[in-house]
Amino acid sequence: MAFWALDGGPYTCAMSPAPDPALFDKVVNLCKRRGFVFPSAEIYGGFRSTYDYGPVGVLLLRNVKEAWWRSMVQLRHDVVGLDAAILSPPAIWEASGHLQNFTDPLVDCRNCRERFRLDKLDDPNECPNCHAKGSFTEARQFNLMFKTYAGPVEGTGAEVYLRPETAQGMFVNFKNVLETSRKRPPFGIAQIGKSFRNEITPGNFVFRTREFEQMEMEYFVPPDEAGKWYEYWRHERLQWYVDLGIPADQLRLRPHDEDELSHYSAATSDVEFLFPWGWDELEGIANRTDYDLTQHARASGESLDYFDQALGERYVPYVIEPAAGATRTAMAFLMAAYDEEEVAREGQGQGESRTVLRFHHNIAPYKVAVLPLSRKPELQEPANEVLGLLQPHYMCDYDETQAIGRRYRRQDELGTPCCVTIDFETLDDRAVTVRDRDSMAQDRVPIDRLLDYLGAKLS
Ligand code: GAP
Repeated sequence: MAFWALDGGPYTCAMSPAPDPALFDKVVNLCKRRGFVFPSAEIYGGFRSTYDYGPVGVLLLRNVKEAWWRSMVQLRHDVVGLDAAILSPPAIWEASGHLQNFTDPLVDCRNCRERFRLDKLDDPNECPNCHAKGSFTEARQFNLMFKTYAGPVEGTGAEVYLRPETAQGMFVNFKNVLETSRKRPPFGIAQIGKSFRNEITPGNFVFRTREFEQMEMEYFVPPDEAGKWYEYWRHERLQWYVDLGIPADQLRLRPHDEDELSHYSAATSDVEFLFPWGWDELEGIANRTDYDLTQHARASGESLDYFDQALGERYVPYVIEPAAGATRTAMAFLMAAYDEEEVAREGQGQGESRTVLRFHHNIAPYKVAVLPLSRKPELQEPANEVLGLLQPHYMCDYDETQAIGRRYRRQDELGTPCCVTIDFETLDDRAVTVRDRDSMAQDRVPIDRLLDYLGAKLS
């Protein structure tokens, strides 16, 4: 199998750093300790494989989604947005093929009674839990969609599904968007939102959960241009992760084998990231052909084709779909940003180790931390002034407890690019100290020039 690197050349094993299994626990612990991610319903003992995003995690997740929206919608003239309903009627999933095909092969171990996805087992004859050989039942196809009921009566006719992908909302709104947005193929519809899958084996922290967020874009193109746009989006999407700070040697494109393709796909490549357990999927870029529009046109009776007046041709557009997971991507940014280093204790000669999240500025939850040196009342006024100056421009943290060195370490673990310290000299010179997260270098900056200074650093 050939993998592809950012420059379009083959990704060879020699380019691949080794995965670091120890990184997983370090990041998961930091997430809990610093308020990125908490296990859901923890006071009730937790609720298996569901997670809540804490005060810092919610900022991280918003930044991931904002960076995606900016690149996929805001900076383009050919993509518009959508926010479709999560609850959806069976007709959509009947037409899309999900009721029939959105299944994973499930096996049970007769020895220890654990359940597994057959296609994810290293050895399909050995149970990874109890190591019994030949103990699996015949594989059964298990549908991943969550079903519920709309209204007071739980019966046939009231069934609805939680969407397992955001994509179908964009296909069923194709005509609405075409008629209202003045877009013509090639053009795209983008959406960010929650999706739900009754995964057989959720796990690896927020990598595979039953409730997660997706960032998907359906790009509608003339059929004979599908190959060109598939290549274009493969490259664009790989580059997006690099532009936001993930090292290029921790990313690769993996084309799917024929027998892996989803029921709607003519070709798919995954953007893979080197997770602590090895290479795994971050995003899939698929050529969905005219499958979805044709299926919905047939099932609904609405025509979902496009008449190209210039060419005098009518056709059903093909769709190229970059489909990413927001929650999974946030986890990859955390893993890629995590670093430990030995440093001299700031202000003293002794060495110590520090943990730092070297996030790209656009991904960092807080851009600036405002830190009055002490809680003395005379420092409150300039600290509030600085906070008021910065808050309209940047997401800021404010922290006035503990020694300043400890507060710097906390901000390093949150990945905050700049700390602004207000000290007693500020009362005389109206200047503050700005500390850089990565170099730990400190600059003295007049409050009147602080916005310009930070603008240059954080732009
Ligand atoms: N519309 C196509 C589609 O949904 P997918 O490969 O099944 O394709 C796209 O999902 C992305 O959504 C994945 O690459 C992954 O990042 C994310 N994703 C899928 N299932 C997930 C799960 N159970 N937990 C977290 N993220 C998931």
